[in-house]
This record gives sequence, structure tokens and C-alpha cells, in this order.
Amino acid sequence: MNEASNSAQAIRIWDWPVRLTHWLFVACIVASWWTAEQNVMDWHRYSGYALLGLLIFRVYWGFFGSSSARFSQFLRGPSGLMAYLRESRDAHREAGHNPLGGWSVAVMLTLMLAQVVIGLFVSDVDGIESGPLSHLVSFDTSRTLADIHEVVFNAILTFIGLHIAAILFYVLVKRDNVLVAMFTGHRRNVRLHAMRPVPAWRIVPGIVLASGVVWWVAT
Ligand code: HEM
Repeated sequence: MNEASNSAQAIRIWDWPVRLTHWLFVACIVASWWTAEQNVMDWHRYSGYALLGLLIFRVYWGFFGSSSARFSQFLRGPSGLMAYLRESRDAHREAGHNPLGGWSVAVMLTLMLAQVVIGLFVSDVDGIESGPLSHLVSFDTSRTLADIHEVVFNAILTFIGLHIAAILFYVLVKRDNVLVAMFTGHRRNVRLHAMRPVPAWRIVPGIVLASGVVWWVAT
């Protein structure tokens, strides 16, 4: 961090729903991997349901949440992305993801969503352990989906690796500690505008929607 940033006032970048869902994503990915490795499939299903709920909430929050959480704020079309990469990196002022980071976030969310949805339809080799919606597809299809479930997991791992490498690059090379903001919600940066919050009640429909879908899928 440079001198100007150090002396700058901390401004609010992330609200708590974004931060909480982020660290719960991390917990769910680790739990899903570990329970699959240990073959404790009941708990694998529970972590999948938790991840599904979090993703539905995060997508809802991407439309109705604070400014830095909104897809409309951080997803730019090809020309916007190219302009950011070519000339206007320093012109980026909005709190939240920059146009490049924004697309990597969209890819990670999409991959995680694809992974849990596919998981709902998967069966194991003898059909004993299966996702709650596997009865809706043939056994062969559910086995093909099991293979795809593994491929998508590897893609998720690749993107998580890139994600962590990008964060380390910011922290260690650019001396810009973006990591602190994912814990505290605040960042000292002279250039950025603060996020625009929304009223707290907006969280409620997101939680109702997420838990309703998970309940419907799981029962
Ligand atoms: C399972 C592993 C992980 C997943 C799936 C994941 C996913 C995500 C997602 C989806 C976002 C966007 C936040 C949002 O807008 O909702 C994000 C942002 C972020 N993540 Fe992770 N993350 C993972 C691990 C980590 C780890 C280990 C770190 C710390 C080293 C980290 C640090 C951050 C930071 C600092 C941001 C904000 C980036 C920015 O300033 O634009 N993440 N992550």
C-alpha cells in the first residue's frame, strides 16, 4: 500500500452478507471435498445443500444487494473489459470488483452453481448413494453426470488456484491488501468510492428464497 493509501480514511467496500457468503463458500467447498474423500455421503449432501442455499442468496444479492455486490456494477461487456485492460485501470473508481476480477467471480459462481445442480442428479456405481433428484434421470445419465461432477470440481479447483494467486499478487506485489477488506469490509484507498448500502430487510427475501429452494430440493 502506498503512503497516500495508508493515510487515507477506511471506506466501506463489502457489506457483511458478501463477506459471510464468501467465507461460507470456502467452508462448503472444503467440506464437500473432504466428505467426498472420506465417503461420508450424507454430510456431502448437506454441504451441497448449504452451498446451493448460499449461491441462491448470492445471486439474489447480485440483483438486490449493496452496490459492490451487484452484477450490474462489476460485469462489463467485452469493450468495457478491453478498455479497462488497455487504458483505464486507474480510472476504475467503484467499490468492489474491477472488470477483470468481476468476470472471474462470475465464472466461480457459475461453476459452483453448475456443480451443486449436477450433484443433485448424480448416482454412484451401485445406485446406493444418489442425489435427491437422481430419480428424474436414467441411471446412465446419472453416471455420466457423476463424471461431469468430477470434471467441474477440477475446474473449480483451477479457478480457486487462480483466484488465490491473484489475491497474493495484489497483497505481495502491488502492496494492496485486498484481503483485509474481505474480513473487515473496509479498505484504505484514496481512489475508490464507498459502496452504497441497501436497507437490512432486503436480506430477508433472499434467505426465504434460498431456504425455500433448498427445502424443496432436499425433501
Ligand atoms: C473455496 C475457495 C474460494 C472460493 C470459492 C472463493 C470465491 C470468491 C468469490 C465468489 C468472490 C466474490 C465475492 C462476491 O462478490 O460475492 C471472492 C472474492 C474474494 N476472495 Fe475468494 N474464494 C475462495 C477462497 C479465497 C481465499 C482462500 C482467499 C484469501 C486468500 C480469498 C480472498 C478473496 C478476496 C480478497 C476477494 C475480494 C476480491 C476483490 O477485491 O475483488 N478467497 N472469492
